[in-house]
Amino acid sequence: MGKADRRRWDGNVKSMEIIAKPLDQITEDDLIFLRENYTSAGGLLPNAYSGGAFFTPTHVARFMWDALKPLLPAKPRVLEPSVGAGVFIEHAPSDAEITALELDKTSAKVTSLLYPSVAVVEGDALTHDRRDYYDLVIGNPPYGVSVEFAPPFELEEWTLSKARGRRKGKSEVAFIELAIKAVKPGGYVAFVLPTGLAFANYAKKLRAYMHETCWQVATILLPGETFAATGTTIATQILIIRKAPPNAKLVEPATKKWGSNFRRSDFGDITDYGAKFLEGQTPAYFAKITDIGIDKHGKVTIPDGEESQLDALLEDFTDGGLVRENLYPHIPSWYGVDKGNEAFFFSHGNGMCDGIRDAEYTYSDGPLRWQELTLGAGEEIDGRGTWFDACLEWQDDTLKSSATKT
Ligand SMILES: C[S@@+](CC[C@H](N)C(=O)[O-])C[C@H]1O[C@@H](n2cnc3c(N)ncnc32)[C@H](O)[C@@H]1O
Repeated sequence: MGKADRRRWDGNVKSMEIIAKPLDQITEDDLIFLRENYTSAGGLLPNAYSGGAFFTPTHVARFMWDALKPLLPAKPRVLEPSVGAGVFIEHAPSDAEITALELDKTSAKVTSLLYPSVAVVEGDALTHDRRDYYDLVIGNPPYGVSVEFAPPFELEEWTLSKARGRRKGKSEVAFIELAIKAVKPGGYVAFVLPTGLAFANYAKKLRAYMHETCWQVATILLPGETFAATGTTIATQILIIRKAPPNAKLVEPATKKWGSNFRRSDFGDITDYGAKFLEGQTPAYFAKITDIGIDKHGKVTIPDGEESQLDALLEDFTDGGLVRENLYPHIPSWYGVDKGNEAFFFSHGNGMCDGIRDAEYTYSDGPLRWQELTLGAGEEIDGRGTWFDACLEWQDDTLKSSATKT
């Protein structure tokens, strides 16, 4: 075990001692210690099961909140389904109503001590039974862990395989599906996820499910160093989606932009994808962070007060719609043509796509950003800057008409 891991280990051991104390003997200094040192077991022991417990760097969680706050009601109802030590709670608005779920006893206890106003529930998130309730589901779920659980409603559909009333599959798939079920129509899901979800076979049904139930808002690719402090170099992405109402229709994509065919040389034509889009789908915002401000040893490289690439992206998020209307609209970066709705979402994972190619010229210092035309707004898109707002109004109308029908 290296020096940094030894420090983490010692921090966790002392944290366990703190939480074992009677409540009235836990001091302010103890709470500060927990906040700064409790990291759980993720990446510490090579072969140990840690429930995918790799905690998110605080500036990543802060960025997600800063991007989302303008879209939420004043007192949002929030679910953090795998809360760890609560980094996503740290940056939540103070009057949010927050429910936090956590399987690990120690992490659940640490979070409830650090955030006494939050309803922390210790147990398996996948049996959580609130539906169509939250304004936001936010977090970083466990990845690559095999899960098996009995969902709370027997007749509810899941994309995971079923045997004797139980569902089985990969943790990240199950958590995304839970989030979509728990969030209300018009609400948002914002997760840090592995990039493999974009193309891996195990997530095929989930991709189609996401595409058919949610509008895609933004995908931000993060470099491997993001989780270096927890001993992993997995490439991840922030995904933000917005749940559509159940009666939202799937419509054909626009096939031309400003009079010409919607086609870019080797990246094909949008009609090749054989997919439809939810009515009101805006152009989706994409970005790739090339320097997260952490090196491969997990050391923070951005001096305090200096702007990170995520801070730079926030400027893009201030136009009220998460998309800069003046970015050039690119062909969607799905991983395969002719696969229909299951190919949708994310970058196709090999770093090659129409948007990245152009963004590398335009933003050579990073972060790279572009937008992808994913909308189904009739045959032709005929102007800059207007269709994005039109799509948002269309989303709102779709939500309103669904609310009046129920
Ligand atoms: C990747 S960590 C993220 C923690 C926190 N959201 C963060 O970003 O720092 C995943 C967390 O999920 C927890 N977890 C794993 N399986 C779970 C389950 N079935 N229900 C609730 N929590 C679970 C782990 O204990 C771990 O704390």
